[in-house]
Amino acid sequence: MICSWKMLPVCLLLAAMCLQGSLLQEAGTRHQRKPFFERFRRLEEQFRRFQEVTLLRLQGIAGNYNISYNIDTRFQYLADQYDTVAAALNVSHAALQEDLGSLKTWMKKLQRRTKKLSTLLSNLTLQTAGHMADLTALRASRNTLQKELESQRETSRSQGTKLEALEQQLKNMLHKEVLASGHHELAVAQRLNQTPQDKLPEAGGSQGQNRRPSPRPPARSSPMCSGQAVTVAFSLPSPVCNVDSMLLFPNASTENLATFGQGFQTGLHELSVCSWVSTHARSLGTILSYATEENDNKLVLHGRNTAALASIHFVIGDPAFQELPVGQLLDGRWHHMCVIWSSIQGKYWFYVDRRLASTGSKFQEGYEIPPGGSLVLGQEQDVVGGGFDPSEAFVGRLAGFAIWNRTLMPGEVSSIAIGKGLPRGTILRLADVSSLNGSIQKVNCTCLEHCL
Ligand SMILES: *[C@@H]1O[C@H](CO)[C@@H](O)[C@H](O)[C@H]1NC(C)=O
Ligand SMILES: *[C@@H]1O[C@H](CO)[C@@H](O)[C@H](O)[C@H]1NC(C)=O
Ligand SMILES: *[C@@H]1O[C@H](CO)[C@@H](O)[C@H](O)[C@H]1NC(C)=O
Ligand SMILES: *[C@@H]1O[C@H](CO)[C@@H](O)[C@H](O)[C@H]1NC(C)=O
Ligand SMILES: *[C@@H]1O[C@H](CO)[C@@H](O)[C@H](O)[C@H]1NC(C)=O
Ligand SMILES: *[C@@H]1O[C@H](CO)[C@@H](O)[C@H](O)[C@H]1NC(C)=O
Ligand SMILES: *[C@@H]1O[C@H](CO)[C@@H](O)[C@H](O)[C@H]1NC(C)=O
Repeated sequence: MICSWKMLPVCLLLAAMCLQGSLLQEAGTRHQRKPFFERFRRLEEQFRRFQEVTLLRLQGIAGNYNISYNIDTRFQYLADQYDTVAAALNVSHAALQEDLGSLKTWMKKLQRRTKKLSTLLSNLTLQTAGHMADLTALRASRNTLQKELESQRETSRSQGTKLEALEQQLKNMLHKEVLASGHHELAVAQRLNQTPQDKLPEAGGSQGQNRRPSPRPPARSSPMCSGQAVTVAFSLPSPVCNVDSMLLFPNASTENLATFGQGFQTGLHELSVCSWVSTHARSLGTILSYATEENDNKLVLHGRNTAALASIHFVIGDPAFQELPVGQLLDGRWHHMCVIWSSIQGKYWFYVDRRLASTGSKFQEGYEIPPGGSLVLGQEQDVVGGGFDPSEAFVGRLAGFAIWNRTLMPGEVSSIAIGKGLPRGTILRLADVSSLNGSIQKVNCTCLEHCL
């Protein structure tokens, strides 16, 4: 038989079994021959033992072979597995190397950043310390300021009391003066027609020049209106003519206004504004306002029904203004008024019914009222040609309104007031009004009694 390498254990077993079979056959035939058999039996016995041992050995070899075969396969398997693991390890090692590389660069970056941050932090600490020092200094200065304010308040309080006392004294003096001047005023009124301008009483001189704190100052009643003379009964001669025409402003609508096509053609260093006025209103309102792009109150004669009712503001180049007494105009009857100003020494005069009601100097000395603005009757402009306020509107009648670019003499003022016509040099009159808006009515009337 042919035994392949793999069948080797099986072959060995078969060989052993054949050998045993032939030995048993021989034992049966030679049973009688005792000594021989005896020897033969011993031999046989030995052989069987040898056979068993051999068989055992063969079996051991076969088992060992199986074990070694198994080990081989196992080894191969293990080797394969080792390769796989090694490859996997290689891959993971490579990945690890990569990770380590990026980790290193990241660490470097982090270090750099940390360095920067720490410098910044130290910088910040320094700056904070500086700010703290500043704050401390600021607190200290605030404290001193507070102390100063406190002392200032104290002084102003004491000055306030002094001022009050002074005001009381002044009031008393004024009262006495008013009582004393009753007769004097009568005499002045009689002399007024002959008084040349340069000898006018500077009664209001002490009033000086008021400064406007804001375009809309609060009501301010001054006890120092020395120019506001005691009322002396004045009646216009009848009839008063040469009036030309009259404008009726029926109500406080801001649509009621009269405008002149052109304002002033040249800059004004002197001016006189005169008009007959009749109103039942509580305040006079705005007679005229003259606004330019630069200043909406270049020349204004305005009162409002919420402020001091018995006075109007005579503004030239806001914020400069003078307060003029108009209480006697508010009785619904016709009165004649003239406002006269000169930039020379800033003198001004306010006449009511030929009488000087207020005067003063140093009011916009050297000032020029610029040309080219918008001149409006009856409304106060807050912007050129607009921004009207009904509380500042004029309600009533204006007759014979006119403006001169010079100062009128007292005689000229009187002659207008008694109806002898307008003196030379008017630059604007009611006839020059270019448009009437709202419900204004214009009436041609030569004599006042017909201006209704
Ligand atoms: C040898 O191994 C195979 C498989 O591993 C098994 O089937 C067989 O019985 C084994 N032989 C011996 C003699 O142990
Ligand atoms: C592991 O990788 C290196 C290169 O990265 C290569 O030379 C080596 O042969 C690889 N080993 C195995 C077991 O894949
Ligand atoms: C620290 O602050 C100073 C000015 O206070 C500045 O000039 C300097 O550049 C700053 N340094 C850093 C690292 O920011
Ligand atoms: C003023 O009068 C006009 C005409 O009579 C009237 O249309 C208008 O509503 C009045 N406006 C006011 C504010 O009284
Ligand atoms: C007043 O106006 C008239 C006409 O515009 C002019 O001829 C005259 O020179 C002006 N007078 C003054 C003092 O400006
Ligand atoms: C006055 O009326 C005229 C038209 O009659 C108009 O063009 C102008 O805008 C009005 N002005 C105002 C301020 O209302
Ligand atoms: C008023 O007088 C002017 C001229 O002085 C004239 O043109 C106008 O028509 C008159 N108006 C009335 C209502 O009489």
